[in-house]
Amino acid sequence: MNKVFKVGLIGCGHIAETYFRGHQYFNNFKIVACADINQKAAEKCAKLYNIKSMTVNEILKDKDIEVILNLTIPQSHYSVSKKVLNAGKHVYSEKPLATYFQKGKELVALAKQKKLYIGNAPDTFLGGGGQKAKELIDSDLIGQIKLGNAIFAFPGVENFHPKPESWYKKEGGPVIDMGPYFFTTLVNLLGPAKQVQGRTLTAFKRRNYRAGPNKGKTFKVETPTTYLATIQFHNEAIIQVTLSFDVINHQRNHMELYGTKGSIIVPDPNMFGGSVYISVTEGGRWGEHKTDKMHLGKINITSSSGRSNESPTNANYRSVGMSEMLYAIEKKKKNRCSGELSLHVLDIIESTMKAATTGVPQKIKTKCEKPKRFTEEEVKKILL
Ligand SMILES: NC(=O)c1ccc[n+]([C@@H]2O[C@H](COP(=O)([O-])OP(=O)(O)OC[C@H]3O[C@@H](n4cnc5c(N)ncnc54)[C@H](O)[C@@H]3O)[C@@H](O)[C@H]2O)c1
Repeated sequence: MNKVFKVGLIGCGHIAETYFRGHQYFNNFKIVACADINQKAAEKCAKLYNIKSMTVNEILKDKDIEVILNLTIPQSHYSVSKKVLNAGKHVYSEKPLATYFQKGKELVALAKQKKLYIGNAPDTFLGGGGQKAKELIDSDLIGQIKLGNAIFAFPGVENFHPKPESWYKKEGGPVIDMGPYFFTTLVNLLGPAKQVQGRTLTAFKRRNYRAGPNKGKTFKVETPTTYLATIQFHNEAIIQVTLSFDVINHQRNHMELYGTKGSIIVPDPNMFGGSVYISVTEGGRWGEHKTDKMHLGKINITSSSGRSNESPTNANYRSVGMSEMLYAIEKKKKNRCSGELSLHVLDIIESTMKAATTGVPQKIKTKCEKPKRFTEEEVKKILL
């Protein structure tokens, strides 16, 4: 029996529901209290899940709570995680680690100094798709990966989000928003990155509100909305990445990697499941490697996200990264969704944005270990 950690939640917004769903899958945490800068949001969440609502200061002082789950907006991740670590608690935060590399670096150093764990989403690479792709690549089926491409592209959040402005401000844009999933998946499969170059474009200077009370009005776009980046990894692979809010529809695969002996199609880095496909002959068949029988690949959602080229049914086990961190705390091991990994990913994010907006290639300053495989036996230890 694993220890069940009492978790305090800060940030009671949209994604909170997904983390409460984690109680159905994982055996080592219970979210017992919640807080938010907006007291009403905390009270609503507490009522819905039958837990205690507190102020941020109260939750940080509560002696029963050893871990804080930080689900605030990206711009608040740094300040909230810093308060948590200074209060002597472990922290697991939604992506990204922070919106600036220097702030992320400070958080990782603070956690180390306080001998506390810091964990960070995305945890999707721990899912069936990410792990099956890793297993196949590591078994040398497609040889050494030399090149590849990845894409996230859709027409923007304003189609469904009533307050889309933050995605189009300086600290927004597609690299901060979706880069964490794609870059973490690439580091999981290829190891750390060393250099990036890129270009940007902005298809629309103003956008239309398409949902909510401002529907019909327009707002200003203050960030590039398309990034085209070329990332070189320490293993010498060169990957072209497209991250865009300017594409109405597309039919490309999320990620294709090309090795010396064959090619692999990696499923959506934003999700946990999906099949992996491999082909080892020119024009030959693509062998399907299913993940829907894997612990973190089983389909558990059946409603379409509406995003381009995204399967209508998929697997979502968000919170496994926190559960794995708690298991690591108990066993005094390193956690997989670590500060080191998320800082390296933040380094790739910031370097990509700088390289693309200035036109000057950027060296990536940090390195991290390639995450270890998360085997089915290991996953089983934290499952209910
Ligand atoms: N919504 C999604 O589908 C989704 C998916 C994956 C990841 N995420 C990530 O999860 C995080 C939260 O996203 P969301 O969609 O739930 O956002 P949201 O805006 O719906 O909720 C965020 C909540 O945090 C609170 N908050 C902000 N700053 C705070 C502070 N300093 N102290 C206390 N509370 C504060 C806000 O009042 C709000 O209630 C983001 O980092 C986002 O990138 C969201």
